[in-house]
Amino acid sequence: MKVSVACDHGAFELKEAIKKHLEEKGIEYTDFGCYSKESVDYPRFAYAAASAVAKGEADYGIICCTTGLGVSMAANKVKGVRAAVCTSVHLAEMTRRHNNANVICMGQAVVSEELAFEMIDKFLSTEFEGGRHCRRVDLITDIENGKEI
Ligand code: RB5
Repeated sequence: MKVSVACDHGAFELKEAIKKHLEEKGIEYTDFGCYSKESVDYPRFAYAAASAVAKGEADYGIICCTTGLGVSMAANKVKGVRAAVCTSVHLAEMTRRHNNANVICMGQAVVSEELAFEMIDKFLSTEFEGGRHCRRVDLITDIENGKEI
């Protein structure tokens, strides 16, 4: 499994902690920045990590900012990306099971490092349920492709 990670200045410490966690778990990752606490524009970093998922260079993305909100909005504009802001292990599980999310977003000001690690572990280990959820996820793709539904 390969993961793309990114953050803005508001979540630099969280991203660094997540990288360490992934290393401990033996999970391969690519870090798309940012690389310090200097102020940056979060859409650039969300775009880079989300694009890696869309291109198949990464299986999943983990993208962080202060709240998780801005990066999720930017990531969700990349075709093929389904990004979910998570604040609990339950949400991390459900967005894999029902939404087939391929990017998890979170906020450094919202979740502790421990919760972030637990959410990531659950997100990366939970399978999409398929079945009736395929139809619903396909409808999301239809919207993305400009179809009327
Ligand atoms: C940056 O100040 C902050 O706006 C950003 O980290 C993010 O939370 C935006 O949604």
